[in-house]
Amino acid sequence: SYQRDIYSSFRSPKFSTKPAEWEAQARKKVPAANFGYVYGAASSGRTHAFNTAAFDRYRLRPKMLVNATRRDLSVELFGTKYPSPILCAPVGVQNIMHKDAEEATARACRETQIPMILSSAATRTIEQIAEANGPGERWYQLYWPRPKFDDITASLLQRAKYNGYKVLVVTLDTFNLAWRPTDLDSSYLPFLFGDGCQVGFSDPVFNRIYDEQQAEDTRSAGEKIREALDVISRPGTPFGALKLLMKASTIKKSRSWLDVLNSGTYREWHHLELLKQHWSGPIVLKGIQTVEDAHKAIEYGMSGIIVSNHGGRQLDGAIASLDALAEITADEQVKKSGLTILFDSGIRTGSDILKALALGAKAVLIGRPYMYGLAIGGEEGVKHVLKCLLADTDNMLGNLGKTCLGDLSRHDLQIQGQAK
Ligand code: FNR
Repeated sequence: SYQRDIYSSFRSPKFSTKPAEWEAQARKKVPAANFGYVYGAASSGRTHAFNTAAFDRYRLRPKMLVNATRRDLSVELFGTKYPSPILCAPVGVQNIMHKDAEEATARACRETQIPMILSSAATRTIEQIAEANGPGERWYQLYWPRPKFDDITASLLQRAKYNGYKVLVVTLDTFNLAWRPTDLDSSYLPFLFGDGCQVGFSDPVFNRIYDEQQAEDTRSAGEKIREALDVISRPGTPFGALKLLMKASTIKKSRSWLDVLNSGTYREWHHLELLKQHWSGPIVLKGIQTVEDAHKAIEYGMSGIIVSNHGGRQLDGAIASLDALAEITADEQVKKSGLTILFDSGIRTGSDILKALALGAKAVLIGRPYMYGLAIGGEEGVKHVLKCLLADTDNMLGNLGKTCLGDLSRHDLQIQGQAK
């Protein structure tokens, strides 16, 4: 059974069961700049620290003499039943952690029956991940191109829909990439723009727009590169120089794809109507942190929100995501609306997951921990991390004296400094 299978991972002699150890091993496994990109946070790193520290202020209140030997971790999200409340958060450029990148994650998700949310900044295409994920569950995360690229948005959504991605996640907190000192100091850009972010090349609309743009500007850098290529591809030119120039044109195109995704603050709430025209399934807004914005999500007919601060990677000094969740789920209008609320940022253990669910999240997303698993052992590493988190959650649910997630509520929590 699912409950038995998730416990198989701790017998692995290769991997630790400690989250801190996953991080330590990943640090040793990949180049410092790559690890830094995953581990790093915005500016002072305080919000990242707030995220994890917030879990210490909410503590679980266990009940005794309850028969909780048979437990059920299943949840229903947007009409689909999932065996657990865990999803893999959208994480871009996974090739910096392991050569199998998003494909390893897609296979691990299929094996553990955990939905994978594919990032717009992935290093594998929508189609490649659909194939690797096979009968698994998958959602698509959109970095929403600016209005002049609406055709690209439409094309991405159409491809996602055609390839079996069920839910559209629109990330709202990254229109303006944050000041991230670790990356600035390690100049991580080459691997993002180099072999990394080429998935845009697979989109026919992006390619058409890109080619048209190149043709229009005959003296553009792209033309110069082609001219230079002409020159150095003559007999006698070193092969290395040729490769270097080809790489330069790839980097240019990758950069152009990231430009499309990194759209600046060109979007307003009423633009969500456009997404609804191109996507008939559920739409979930990722990066909501306030009751005010949760109300807007309801007003604009969204199916759900992901309370998230991007793992502390965007607005430094922002409140802990768990505190934002507590505020939003306590709101009467939100409660009445039936809005589905998901949560991420800072989860490292099973008890963290139970706390978020007790506060009213229906399910949670895991970010960095599975990336560390990917670095340590590719597909096996991701599977190990996910199974550990599942088993830890299942075990803690029993220790709390509960048999299913629907039984969790705020009564299961004591908030420090606030006696019940
Ligand atoms: C992210 N995150 C992210 N989110 C998103 O919507 N699209 C993306 O492409 C990415 N890329 C990305 C890369 C890396 C390296 C990290 C660590 C994170 C944010 C991610 O989905 C999630 O919100 C956070 O990772 C959750 O916080 P924890 O679990 O990492 O603390």
